[in-house]
Amino acid sequence: MDFKNEVVELISSQVDLPKEKIAALIERPKNAKMGDYAFPCFVLAKELHKNPVEIAKNITDNISSDDFASIKAVGPYVNFAIDHEKLVSSTLKDVLAQNNHYGDQEVGHGNVPIDMSSPNIAKPMSMGHLRSTVIGNSIAKTMEKVGYTPIKINYLGDYGTQFGKLIAAYKHWGNEEDVKKDPIMSLFHYYVRFHKEAEENPELDQEGRDWFKKLEDGDPEAVKLWKWFREVSLADFNRIYKELGVTFDSYNGEAFFNDKMQPVIDELKDKGLLYESRGAQVVDMGEDENPAIIVKSDGTSIYLTRDLAAAEWRMKEYDFVKMLYVVGNEQAQHFVELKTVLKKMSYDWSDEIHHVPFGLITQGGKKLSTRKGNVVFLDQVLKDAVNLAKKQIEEKNPDLANQDQVAHDVGVGAVIFHDLKNDRLDNFDFDLNEVVRFEGDTGPYVQYTNARAQSVLRKAAAMGEKPSDTDFALDDDWAFAVAKDIADFPRIIRRSAEKFEPSVIAKYSLDLAKKFNKYYANVKILTKDEKIGARLALVKATSIVLTEALRLLGVNAPEEM
Ligand code: ARG
Repeated sequence: MDFKNEVVELISSQVDLPKEKIAALIERPKNAKMGDYAFPCFVLAKELHKNPVEIAKNITDNISSDDFASIKAVGPYVNFAIDHEKLVSSTLKDVLAQNNHYGDQEVGHGNVPIDMSSPNIAKPMSMGHLRSTVIGNSIAKTMEKVGYTPIKINYLGDYGTQFGKLIAAYKHWGNEEDVKKDPIMSLFHYYVRFHKEAEENPELDQEGRDWFKKLEDGDPEAVKLWKWFREVSLADFNRIYKELGVTFDSYNGEAFFNDKMQPVIDELKDKGLLYESRGAQVVDMGEDENPAIIVKSDGTSIYLTRDLAAAEWRMKEYDFVKMLYVVGNEQAQHFVELKTVLKKMSYDWSDEIHHVPFGLITQGGKKLSTRKGNVVFLDQVLKDAVNLAKKQIEEKNPDLANQDQVAHDVGVGAVIFHDLKNDRLDNFDFDLNEVVRFEGDTGPYVQYTNARAQSVLRKAAAMGEKPSDTDFALDDDWAFAVAKDIADFPRIIRRSAEKFEPSVIAKYSLDLAKKFNKYYANVKILTKDEKIGARLALVKATSIVLTEALRLLGVNAPEEM
């Protein structure tokens, strides 16, 4: 049951304020004796020309509800006290009945394309692309939980003049065997070498341009090489996606929109939005802003033009109700331009486009840069994390079945959780020791808590005991703290979905884990008495919610570890 919502409903029956406003005003009294929720009446005083104490009294006299133990006017506040036993039992009843569907809701529906991951072919996947992948994946799962149909799009950077250079480089120094063995690294080295040598030997640049022209004109050799580079790079990326457990619904990358840009340029012309500025074709962005370039002076089209074509295509294809771009904050201006131009084209659906930015990861305080050698290799990070998890398991639980699978879930889970637990816009410094830490506020801590709950249930089963399905009434404060958190889960999911913010769920899972561990430390769960079934119901409900919270983050929850 959503008690806060109930408070909002009751207040709104008496007070002429929008429900969101009421919800925002509701406070959580610090002193538990003052109840669980309080509505302050100061804001109404001016409007009603009455003193707030009187208003509080009036409201209280006119509402009643069986869901609360008491509703009282205390000074200028209306205080609501939850019936603790009732909260515990109604919450556990809901969770056990709905199982992993607990928290499902209908915030909205319809297609929501999520532009995410989107690494560039023939270059190592960066930390930024990892962030985009795991944040996008969690948002997709959360949107689905609240009724939408997410469509995960990997908008691969698979086209552009750099592919002319790459082909030229490959023709000079390339070796098929090497590319097959380690595609991205080999291709990347050719590309870096090309840049170095082109500084001494500018003719190389011309060669690169010539190859790009050939690619554009459909020259069979150029197309074949480009396709091959794309294919082997994608296979490399797919290994990482597989480790992370992330899948995509579409890989329509930049190249897919090659033949879809001219119509957009024509459309902009027809709508009278395009004008010339210093040889380029641009769209006005309003006073004080630089115009947005649509066609460069050398005639080539650019990133923005392609994204315009992609947005229009996706609208036709998916008829979306929202579209999200999970892309680093450094591209914020690009997405402002994208939305502004679409709006100028009279596409009101541009209002439903959201750039979902995230912060920068640095290493040793410096920006990561593949070119400058300040790199984090994702494969290696994942491998290290899994190995460390494996070592811990061998020490602590050598008899565990499926050790490799569990080590994988814990190691990879640690990496994903670490990325999601902070507000996505926060910048942070990458520290491998921090990422693979298993104590404190980490993914493995939440996983471990869930495994602990599962282990209690197994022990109970061995004693012939199981969670009750009728009696859920527990009156101790530890149980109440756990159940109150669990009751909050649906609201947490909604908040995370509305803010496109996985950290809301990650922080929540840590909090619930802590509350449960306190319960575990203070209450003898497996004592055979008439309440054992109710206690086991609390344990089971906790495990259901922790498992589901982790799932929404893209993290597996092993039953044993
Ligand atoms: N490939 C781009 C990069 O690595 C990210 C693409 C983001 N998506 C988009 N529709 N622009 O920077």
